[in-house]
Amino acid sequence: MRLAKYMAEAGVASRRKAEKLIMQGRVKVNGLPVKEKGYIINPEADRIEFDGRILTREEKVYILLNKPAGYVSSVVDHRGRPTVVDLIKDIDLRVYPVGRLDLDTEGLLLLSNDGDFTNLMIHPRYEIPKTYQVLVAGKPEADSLQMLREGIELEDGITAPAQADIIETYEDKTRLQIRIHEGRKRQVKRMCLAIGHPVISLKRTAFGFLTLQGVSPGEYRFLTPGEVNKLKQQAWSEQE
Ligand code: URA
Repeated sequence: MRLAKYMAEAGVASRRKAEKLIMQGRVKVNGLPVKEKGYIINPEADRIEFDGRILTREEKVYILLNKPAGYVSSVVDHRGRPTVVDLIKDIDLRVYPVGRLDLDTEGLLLLSNDGDFTNLMIHPRYEIPKTYQVLVAGKPEADSLQMLREGIELEDGITAPAQADIIETYEDKTRLQIRIHEGRKRQVKRMCLAIGHPVISLKRTAFGFLTLQGVSPGEYRFLTPGEVNKLKQQAWSEQE
């Protein structure tokens, strides 16, 4: 493993910044200074010191949160609103949302301190399918739903084919289930608006094979190593 990557995982700095710190001679491997930015270490055996402090890598955590409406999907909010990270109480590690849900969107949001995992989950090339329950105004006609299924023109281009089905109809609104593979900004809301049915409320019910089962709004659970591996495999297979 690259020394700079190890330093990033130990929370010292970003990989690029870590390379600069290495070049400045502030890092020792097994007691000897190393000034080579691509230096390879054995994370199991080597002793890494930065400015005289021995580094240990952060344990990786993966959290499934049932986000309530009214929480911002970021670590801090410059306007002082509550954030999803405020809901994660019992860990000392710093976690970040994996992608984002709008302020008023509820449902399944992952958080992690594993940057590689986050990139894999949100990279457009490996997009994991996401399922939403969407309450929209009015009752979409069959051909409108077909437009969502085939791809619809938005200002940032045509959407990829989606699944779109009616779950329940009310007098003047309809509950839909929509499944998309992309993760563009406000995508579901913009898709529904494009067929003339504005979103009244939005909830993400699944991320890949993960669901909200057993997790009440505002609560969270840790993913198992098996679930994390399965998500990674799913992302890689989506790429093929
Ligand atoms: N699509 C949206 O419009 N908003 C979300 O929060 C998620 C998907």
